[in-house]
Amino acid sequence: MRIRPVSAVTSALLVLSTLVLAVPRAGAAAAAQAAAPPRAPLVIGHRGVPVQAPENTLASVDRADELGITWVENDVQRTKDGALIVMHDTTLERTTDVKRRFPGRARWKVADFTLAEIRKLDAGSWYDRRFAGERVPTLRSYLQRVDRNRQKLLLEVKAPELYPGIERQLAGELQRAGWLDARHVRGSLVVQSFSAPSLKAFHRVRPDVKTGFLGAPKASELRSYAAFADQINPHHRSVTSAWVRAVHALRGPHGRRLEVSAWTVDNGDRAVDLARTGVDGIISNAPHEIEEALEEDRDEQEQEQEDDGLSILGFLGL
Ligand code: G3P
Ligand code: CA
Repeated sequence: MRIRPVSAVTSALLVLSTLVLAVPRAGAAAAAQAAAPPRAPLVIGHRGVPVQAPENTLASVDRADELGITWVENDVQRTKDGALIVMHDTTLERTTDVKRRFPGRARWKVADFTLAEIRKLDAGSWYDRRFAGERVPTLRSYLQRVDRNRQKLLLEVKAPELYPGIERQLAGELQRAGWLDARHVRGSLVVQSFSAPSLKAFHRVRPDVKTGFLGAPKASELRSYAAFADQINPHHRSVTSAWVRAVHALRGPHGRRLEVSAWTVDNGDRAVDLARTGVDGIISNAPHEIEEALEEDRDEQEQEQEDDGLSILGFLGL
């Protein structure tokens, strides 16, 4: 994320507001705050970059990397024989060729297939012939690829009610993959879920790992989530500035201000509006386009500030 320097004209105005106009100290601080560029939300690739590569595959992680997207989101589930894999739907039908390979196995639930069977599936052809042969990743291979690319991971435990004990298993898998060392825990991993009981269970097993609750609890209920979640991640239509302020007013289990990442936002104008509500993150299927829209908006704002500054300097005859 690029931190923009305050422009020369804006700096001159700040100096003027303190020295020439003798604005009281508190007034100058407020002016400086108003002139400071807003902190841009982090943009996270939802299931990778599914507008350019099949969701939740290593190809999608790599595409995110090529586009300069550091954070990716995924969904984790469990096979019949207990392997953790990366897949969004609880059935294999939409994102693989399972119907053709195993025609008699309707409804093709993830939990009814072994890892060996899932390894046979093509998770790319449904999307585009260019991705033929892409596989459903194991969580282990996915973690390795994210690490290799020096990316970071927002990991969703999907439908945990179907997979009893998945929280402890996930912690073990993360540990074996080297993802629970200080570096990853400090800045490369958030575990999220729609299920508060599951998130609480994971937080009990690994209280050091940052967690996110998927949903938009009422402001009056947020405090109870702050006991086990560092982030509250709502559907973007639930977000208002007042609600974001209510979330930000609380501290999470690690003593830091709670954060908000909104999903799933593929429209640049909507992303700009959300950024103005103060959200910390935006989860998108087209993260590169959202980054571009946010950057354009910041450029425009900076230009406006510069123009305003020049008018004032002109007015003062400086
Ligand atoms: O990360 C938020 C988002 O992934 C939640 O919805 O259904 O896409 O997993 P879903
Ligand atoms: Ca998800």
